[in-house]
Amino acid sequence: MDKRCAVIMAAGDGKRMGSASSKVLCNVLDRPMIEWVLDNCSGAGVADVCVVVGAAVADVEAQLAGRATIAVQQERRGTGHAVTCAGDFLRSNLDSDVLILSGDAPFQFPEVIEAAYRAHKDKGNAMTVFSATVDNSFGYGRIVRGTRGVTNIVEQKDANDAERNIREINAGAYWFRAADLLEALGELTPSNAQGELYLTDTLQILRNKGRRVDAYDAGDPRVVLGANTRAQLHRLNTIARDMVIEKLWEQGVDIPITDGIIISREATIGRDTRILPGTVIKGATVIGEGCVIGPNSYLDDAVLGNDCHIKASWVTRSTIADDVQIGPFSQVRPDCTIASGVRIGDFVEVKNSHLGENTHASHLTYIGDTDCGSGVNFGCGVVTVNYNGVSKARCTVGDNSFIGCNTNLVAPVTVGEGAYTAAGSTVTIDVPPEALCIARSREVIKQGWAKGRLKLKK
Ligand code: UD1
Ligand code: CA
Repeated sequence: MDKRCAVIMAAGDGKRMGSASSKVLCNVLDRPMIEWVLDNCSGAGVADVCVVVGAAVADVEAQLAGRATIAVQQERRGTGHAVTCAGDFLRSNLDSDVLILSGDAPFQFPEVIEAAYRAHKDKGNAMTVFSATVDNSFGYGRIVRGTRGVTNIVEQKDANDAERNIREINAGAYWFRAADLLEALGELTPSNAQGELYLTDTLQILRNKGRRVDAYDAGDPRVVLGANTRAQLHRLNTIARDMVIEKLWEQGVDIPITDGIIISREATIGRDTRILPGTVIKGATVIGEGCVIGPNSYLDDAVLGNDCHIKASWVTRSTIADDVQIGPFSQVRPDCTIASGVRIGDFVEVKNSHLGENTHASHLTYIGDTDCGSGVNFGCGVVTVNYNGVSKARCTVGDNSFIGCNTNLVAPVTVGEGAYTAAGSTVTIDVPPEALCIARSREVIKQGWAKGRLKLKK
């Protein structure tokens, strides 16, 4: 197996993003751009990665969490200088081919990286630059081709009129033989319009040494897209969002209108599930077949079975079985397991709880830290009182029990199987199976009492 490694240039400071954090931590579809780039490397089978970061970027280091070697570029002196800062990493990979990517270009996908690598190896190149042909090449390095192949990459600011008309551009990604790269980096000079060390100048340096260099046209203009501004980030988000939605359509997911729909790349959705406007699906959410999600629902790391309906509701980090209905306007907070056939109606909050099969909580209810059996009916306005201001405690609710409207279950407390609580009861002691707990004072009727007041008013 050929040895391969990667250097990711990520010393951009993100000034134009107006962000407090590094540019590469800005999100595309809720995932930092640097994560997209790392995914692209690992997707192409390149595991050994060095990320070149600028000064004061504890945030990027924290994000990488030991998954990549870090090299620091103290001063921003150009792309050639950035890669030079990864010199130690390159020297320890002298017999490898090295992939160079930008940390802010999320769409250099594994297929392109691999195809470029095959071209690079088949032709025995010292350097292969990824290129794309675009309608508007302004701002990009132009690929200059002569009769005997690619002769140069010329930056916008250094180009003459003829070169500026070239539409084949440098996508900002490269394969190099590491030893050749190191040799060429040592010969870079800042003799250009920007006074920088251009990584792109290595092409001419290697060519002049008689090494093979070439451009690989990725055939996909998305590979060049990066983001320096929030507006460009919006463009990347739009492209990524459409990519995900188009893939889901191919898989038989029903998204009749895409308005306000954002779905993460990691989400898995079964066929014939219908996603309605205003729905955001984040993280590694898994949704079965035949569900209806939305309108206006939000799922984050949720796992849903088949035939569920989530109406204008939030589900976070919880597992929901088949045929469950939630909403409108309800919330399932983290660490819930909801069994099949459960009905959670409007204005219900469930947290860190288990609800057994066919349990219903139809209106205005809070169920927190509760282990609830199957076939339970929560009346309107039930509250599990799980917090005494100091610590949390759990409630246990047995199968087929009936919790009357406006019951407070003061935890820790157990309601036995098949037991009832009367409406308006505050339950602080365990209720035995099949018993009725009634905890409220009797009404007093004062006959004629109001009549007197009526006279006073007149
Ligand atoms: C670069 C290429 C250009 C190509 C374009 C594609 C050079 C000289 N030019 O231009 O041919 O068409 O990318 O997008 O390479 N970076 C550092 N340290 C630095 C400078 C840059 O880490 O000192 C990083 C940036 O954060 C970014 C990447 O390198 O991730 C590219 O730098 P950028 O300034 O965007 O290069 P361009 O001028 O756009
Ligand atoms: Ca750029």
